[in-house]
Amino acid sequence: MKVLVIGGGGREHTLVWKLAQSSRVSQIFCAPGNAGTAKIAENLDISDGDIPALLKFAIDNNIGHTMVGPEVPLVNGIVDEFESAGLRVFGPNARAAILEGSKVFTKELLAKYNIPTAEYHRFTETSAALDFLESNTTYPIVVKADGLAAGKGVLISLSKEAAQQGVREMMEDKVFGDAGNEIIIEEFMTGPELSLLCFVDSKTAIPMVSAKDYKRIGEGDTGLNTGGMGAISPNPLYDDTLESYCLKNIIEPTLEGMRQEGRPFKGILYCGIMITPQGPKVLEYNVRFGDPETQVILPRLKTDLLDIFEAVVDDKLADIDIEWDEAAAATIVLASEGYPEAYPKGLPISGLDDIISSVVFHAGTKLQAGDVLTSGGRVLNVTSISPTVADALKTSYENSELIHFDGKTIRGDIGS
Ligand code: AMP
Ligand code: GLY
Repeated sequence: MKVLVIGGGGREHTLVWKLAQSSRVSQIFCAPGNAGTAKIAENLDISDGDIPALLKFAIDNNIGHTMVGPEVPLVNGIVDEFESAGLRVFGPNARAAILEGSKVFTKELLAKYNIPTAEYHRFTETSAALDFLESNTTYPIVVKADGLAAGKGVLISLSKEAAQQGVREMMEDKVFGDAGNEIIIEEFMTGPELSLLCFVDSKTAIPMVSAKDYKRIGEGDTGLNTGGMGAISPNPLYDDTLESYCLKNIIEPTLEGMRQEGRPFKGILYCGIMITPQGPKVLEYNVRFGDPETQVILPRLKTDLLDIFEAVVDDKLADIDIEWDEAAAATIVLASEGYPEAYPKGLPISGLDDIISSVVFHAGTKLQAGDVLTSGGRVLNVTSISPTVADALKTSYENSELIHFDGKTIRGDIGS
């Protein structure tokens, strides 16, 4: 079968790498891909947001299965378009992808179906939001843009003034465009975080092994939020009791709620959870694989990934046995200097061929005249599998030292 993977980050390199292990896959295309996917797939010069061009390619090239990595095309209805054309495609349709596309929708759903999450208020008027903050006495508080903002639409404000400034930037200055037309102001929660990802078809949800993402740029969880600077799997806090609790009180009622709302969900459901002193609560939903969580989850998967994706498309997930490696995994992100703010691009990367005991998943890289150059904020993910998380981390950190580009930035406390 010919397979198309949409996207060009570390998550997509990992997806391509895993799908390439399937005996049923004859050829993989990746749109647009990166220098890593170029080695095992054919990269296409089509952006991951260009739905008409992606659809045309899939039809013209007899693609048997399309896997959509990022959220933007999902929220914009790529699955609807592919299904209308009779193509087999993995991911939620636009009506279900709203779970990531609108934080207001999700908070209302969680409230309606009694699913634990932070207390919140929604605002469409700047003045009402500012008045609310004027009378609020508890800080920090969290301000969130309703729509997609490339992971940047969440502001943890330590003071009234900072929160009010955030509100003005979102609602008046439109720093996130229309995503800030409506905002949520919610209670600040504390506790360790957990990323719980599930394969979901119309009837069944099967959790994957757990992961922990390190979102802040600075060591000790300081500085700006990023897409994620590293990840480990399993999450050390995770056990069967926590899994059962989250499935029963969070995942299953969410999926049932979506069915009740006439928005049945299929694909990957990623639940960001905070384990607060009052118990696990939902931070957010994503409707896709996490990045860099995928880089530590999929290397532990023993089952053929295409078999799982196909079972989801056919609503036969209950019939498949999904097996995982007991070993642990760790990934370290090598980022560009300045990320998550402005950073240089086009810098040469060396040392990639010296890596033997880790797998390097590329993110922001591109090939130019045979050279691998940086092309994004998160550049590479050095990933290792070992019996323990500590060993996997040690191997990834050692191998990260062998790779060079100007301004290479690594968080030294992944796993802590
Ligand atoms: P989100 O994109 O909603 O997951 O938010 C990004 C990150 O901001 C989360 O992973 C948390 O670290 C943090 N965050 C979001 N909402 C809250 C909250 N209500 N209380 C504390 N931290 C939060
Ligand atoms: N690592 C967080 C995300 O994929 O949204």
